[in-house]
Amino acid sequence: MKEEFMNRAIKLAKKGIGFVNPHPLAGAVIVKEHSIVGEGFYKAYSSHSAEIEALNNVPEDLRDGEMYLNIEPFKDKDTFLKAIINSGIKRIYIGMLDPNPDKEEDVIALMKSHGIEVKIGVLSEQCQELNEIYAHYITKHIPFVFTKWAMTLDGKLASRTGDSKWISSEDSLKFVHHLRQRVAAIMVGENTVRLDDPLLTTRLEGVEISNPLRVILSKYGDLPIHSKVLEVDERTKTLIIASKSILREKEELLLKKGVQLLKLEEKDGRIDFKDIIKALGDMEIDSLYIEGGSAVLASAFESGIVNKVYAAIAPKIIGGKDAVTPVGGVGIERMRDAILLKRVTHEIVGNDVIFKGYIEY
Ligand SMILES: NC(=O)c1ccc[n+]([C@@H]2O[C@H](COP(=O)([O-])OP(=O)(O)OC[C@H]3O[C@@H](n4cnc5c(N)ncnc54)[C@H](OP(=O)(O)O)[C@@H]3O)[C@@H](O)[C@H]2O)c1
Repeated sequence: MKEEFMNRAIKLAKKGIGFVNPHPLAGAVIVKEHSIVGEGFYKAYSSHSAEIEALNNVPEDLRDGEMYLNIEPFKDKDTFLKAIINSGIKRIYIGMLDPNPDKEEDVIALMKSHGIEVKIGVLSEQCQELNEIYAHYITKHIPFVFTKWAMTLDGKLASRTGDSKWISSEDSLKFVHHLRQRVAAIMVGENTVRLDDPLLTTRLEGVEISNPLRVILSKYGDLPIHSKVLEVDERTKTLIIASKSILREKEELLLKKGVQLLKLEEKDGRIDFKDIIKALGDMEIDSLYIEGGSAVLASAFESGIVNKVYAAIAPKIIGGKDAVTPVGGVGIERMRDAILLKRVTHEIVGNDVIFKGYIEY
């Protein structure tokens, strides 16, 4: 039963995807006599917490009731404490503690001091994964970085002519849009813009859409001026990351299109990914999804900033020694130097297999 109610809290929390960053996803369930009597979730960055939502939506008498939270309360704490003490709820199950090192009030100790029983750790693995972005950002102040690529069975990211539409199945493409909805920013390199002219927006049916900030790595701003990513509006924004030595005319042309420009130091012909994520973290971007292409992914792995990898493998064979592979660059010399993924799982999505794993530094 406990797992079932916590699962419901997780499901509710997911309704906030795309709207609460850099805060955590939070859901709350109130149970009395083994039945759910109240629910809430954290809807948007400035709205009430999930707990308050749930407590506002329940019958008066909650004596001997229980509450399920996927994460320890992290906002509206005073209001929550008053409400929970008055409610008569006797026990709270919490999936994960708030990892914020600067949290001021110890809500858990305060609840305990008022006789409320607090149990921590129901479905803790699922709760931790749900808020891995928050946990990373709140402790390190840099975005949680993941990559996702689709490759053929023979390990290619695109054909020898640069065509990659579409390697993966329709279901895998939908998976991509769920990832886009989840993150604050998505990145591709300038060659991908040139060859694919992607929109990089979120396209999902039946939910309110949140587009990530589109981040384009383009040292000297050499982008086709009519590229889709250069068409911006209030809900669809673009940030170009360029070298400090970008030409003034290029810079002006891009700024005239309404995009933001971030100029960073160039070292040995490269912009260091460590500088990139530091700058994005300062902009309160808690998550970065690097979609490609091959050169950008190589550079990100070389800098040691990738936390999680998704790789979709499609049952197609295209050949071509010049067709790019997911991670280009120079590569390592010996197998013993390979980057090893941890906590690896996979799932079948449409005709593809999607691998998921973590890189621990
Ligand atoms: N199947 C998929 O999931 C998928 C996803 C995305 C893209 N793609 C495919 O990938 C192909 C494009 O890949 P690509 O490797 O040619 O291009 P890319 O990675 O999109 O862009 C390469 C550009 O980024 C620059 N760059 C990379 N790292 C940099 C850094 N740290 N600092 C500054 N500049 C940096 C490179 O500069 P330098 O020239 O100095 O190296 C180069 O100009 C396309 O065919 C596209 O269809 C496939």
